[in-house]
Amino acid sequence: MANYLITGGAGFIGSHLVQALLDRGDQVRVLDNFETGLRKNLEPILDRIDLHEVSLTDADAVLRACEGIDFIFHEGALPSVPRSVKEPRPSHAINIDGTFHLLEGARQSGARRVVYAASSSAYGNQPGFPRVETMAPQPLSPYAVQKLTGELYMQAYHRVYGLETVCLRYFNIFGARQVPDSPYSGVMARFALMMMRGERPTIFGDGEQGRDFTHIDNVVLANLLAVEAPAEKVAGRVFNIACGERHTLNQTYALLATLTGFPHPPLYGPARDGDVRDSLADITAAREALGYAPQVGFEEGLRRTVAWYRDEFAG
Ligand SMILES: NC(=O)c1ccc[n+]([C@@H]2O[C@H](COP(=O)([O-])OP(=O)(O)OC[C@H]3O[C@@H](n4cnc5c(N)ncnc54)[C@H](O)[C@@H]3O)[C@@H](O)[C@H]2O)c1
Repeated sequence: MANYLITGGAGFIGSHLVQALLDRGDQVRVLDNFETGLRKNLEPILDRIDLHEVSLTDADAVLRACEGIDFIFHEGALPSVPRSVKEPRPSHAINIDGTFHLLEGARQSGARRVVYAASSSAYGNQPGFPRVETMAPQPLSPYAVQKLTGELYMQAYHRVYGLETVCLRYFNIFGARQVPDSPYSGVMARFALMMMRGERPTIFGDGEQGRDFTHIDNVVLANLLAVEAPAEKVAGRVFNIACGERHTLNQTYALLATLTGFPHPPLYGPARDGDVRDSLADITAAREALGYAPQVGFEEGLRRTVAWYRDEFAG
């Protein structure tokens, strides 16, 4: 049994990781200030976790949260491109300074490994699909720069201090608990909820932009593999975590409309600043080094997600 710290453990991805670790009997500490994460994600398990309700921007509090910890999943962030465009300063403080505090905490407390939630936004709009980890990053938005800076810090802490760090570049994750009703919500969650409420979603751009949508269960699996893989295979490295399939927003809209019984076509609006046009991952590296293979496909993931939103938001 090992001791785990999950930053952002009240959030969409973090709370699924917390649950997966508790299910296997691990000790779990959560660091979160509920900036975008929800208390209800932790309520059923509050008596089984050690909750540190502090901010990643508080270096001393982050260090305390790292004490006695073996493994860290660093999910905490302000995870939104448009929010980083509108308000770059807070997302810089949380995503870059917060990640630095976390690494310092990990180093000073002697943690063994940090698995970092990196982002496919690092690739930007450069030509060449699928995206391979060896491509030079071309971040477009403040958010993309911040998440990439976190990767560089992770790699530097491995090279300089020997801390085992593993960066997982997530590609458009979706599933239960993704917040659907914030102006910064991911497209899949927002569309599903609006359709269930009988409202017509707007697609920004022509809808032919593609995404490598990845169900949350695949991400949890990738994280568990990343923490267990031999250091010589994964430490200091970056891995795409996705399905290796491209689905356009128009296709996604059509499937969601079928699953929710929504009869109307989408509205279209202007493309948004900082959004990447396409995303499609090569997942060979994760396959080879982590033994990762996606377990839940796009359509099955959509079905599960719509079912969850229906239960959660019925009436
Ligand atoms: N969802 C995706 O498609 C996706 C894609 C690429 C990368 N990521 C990364 O995955 C991670 C998790 O994202 P998510 O989708 O679960 O988002 P989320 O908003 O649900 O989770 C982020 C968590 O971080 C917490 N947090 C924010 N600011 C904090 C602070 N100052 N101190 C402590 N905690 C703070 C929030 O309260 C929340 O619980 C993020 O690092 C994000 O950048 C997500």
